[in-house]
Formats: sequence, structure tokens, C-alpha cells
Amino acid sequence: MPIDALATDLATADPATVIARALREFGQDAAIAFSGAEDVLLIEYAAQSGLPFRVFCLDTGRLHPETYRFIAQVEERYRLRIEVLFPDGAAVERLVRAKGLFSFYQDGHGECCGVRKVEPLRRHLGTLRAWITGQRRDQGATRTQVPRVQVDSAFRGQDGGELVKFNPLAETSREDVWLAIRALEVPFNELHRRGYVSIGCEPCTRPILPSQHEREGRWWWEDAAHKECGLHQGNLKKT
Ligand code: ADX
Ligand code: SF4
Repeated sequence: MPIDALATDLATADPATVIARALREFGQDAAIAFSGAEDVLLIEYAAQSGLPFRVFCLDTGRLHPETYRFIAQVEERYRLRIEVLFPDGAAVERLVRAKGLFSFYQDGHGECCGVRKVEPLRRHLGTLRAWITGQRRDQGATRTQVPRVQVDSAFRGQDGGELVKFNPLAETSREDVWLAIRALEVPFNELHRRGYVSIGCEPCTRPILPSQHEREGRWWWEDAAHKECGLHQGNLKKT
């Protein structure tokens, strides 16, 4: 189905409906991108659909121990094997030998995220026709226009073809995500109990204060207008 028609169909659909539709349209050529945080709700809704589904997670090598445990807990709860993707070992070695383990504090997160997240993602997306993310509009300045469904302007899919990106939670607020997680008794990352809201890599994530926006805890030494690691670089082109 053409993407515009799909977008029209899903214009008022709730997140569970968007996910079920993505799985029906693309089957095993679609996959959920799971970061190990509150986007676990995507997995709950996919499980509720009763359809088979795939999940992948980018293991940068720098995630919190709690996140690794949570990934395993989610596998057990939903009886699935998450496809854990690793960066190219030689590329990581080159970066770390040249610049050390914490170069991102000096020259920005772009290079390290490029090696540890974006390249493995590009490789994996090249095997798919659609991916499903947990992006939300209320996550910050770079995400205010995120649609429920879009053609990914930053990555290509199978055989270099068009890649569709579903953002089922785009118009769901953080509060509503958490209400659903609690109501449905979905497991969550223990870090959320300790003031972490948005969770990424350990050296680049910290808890936030009550008055702070959730993404202030990510790459806190950098400017809010650039807080994308490259996974969602299509967002930056539009803003
Ligand atoms: S990030 O680009 O800044 O790291 P964020 O943490 O807000 O992204 O998560 C938004 C969505 O991007 C997640 O819901 C998930 O779909 C995807 N994502 C982020 N990090 C990962 C990861 N490590 N592995 C797989 N998907 C991820
Ligand atoms: Fe590297 Fe930080 Fe990006 Fe993780 S979030 S890949 S540690 S720069």
C-alpha cells in the first residue's frame, strides 16, 4: 500500500493498532527497535496483536548493566529472542585507540554514536522494509513533527529500497506511556526507579531533576537542538 494511504488510514489509530497494521503489512520484513527503556510498550502491544514480530537492540558496548538485565527480562517475559546488534569491532578499536574511551565529552557524540549505533543500524535496516520506533513528539525539540508513519529519509531498506518508519507512540505523552506500562504490568528498566527518564548509553545518560526535560539527561554537555545520535537523523533535516 502507498505510504500516503497508509498514513491516512492510521491518522487517528491508537498505538496498538499502528503496530498491528505494521506487522500485517510487512511481516518479518519489519522490526521493532528497542532501546531498553519505556519503548518496551511497543513490545507489549506487538505481543497483544498475536502476530509474530521481530525486535532488535543496538548494543553499543556502553549500556548500563541494568539495561542488559532488562533486555534479558523482556526476552523471558515475552518469550522472544531480541536480535542484539553489535558494532564493527575493528572500527571501535580504531576509535578508542586514536581518541580514548570518552572522546565524546571533548568533541561531541557524533563519531562514537556513528560507529557504535548508526553503522550497525544502517546494516540491519538494509535487511528490512520497515522499522518501528518509540519516538514521541514530546521527547524534545528535534521530535515535535514526528508522524505516526513516514518514509525514512535517512536510511534505505532491503536491496536499497524504500524504508518505512512507524512511530506508533508519536502522539502519546510520556505520562500516558507510563500509565499504560503500569496498568498492563509491563516490566521496566530498574534505572527508571532512580530518576532516569530517557535512557541511552551509561556515559552519556544521567538522571534528571524534577524540573528538567527528559532529554536533558542525555548528552547533557551538548545543545538541545542537536540531541539526535543519528538513529533519527531524518528529524534534524526537517528542523
Ligand atoms: S536516541 O536516538 O536518542 O538514542 P531515544 O533513546 O530517544 O533515541 O529512543 C527513541 C527510539 O529510538 C527508541 O524508542 C527506539 O525505537 C530507538 N532506539 C534508541 N536507542 C536504541 C537502541 N540502542 N537499540 C535499538 N533502538 C534504539
Ligand atoms: Fe558513544 Fe555515548 Fe553515543 Fe553511546 S551515546 S554510542 S557511548 S557517544
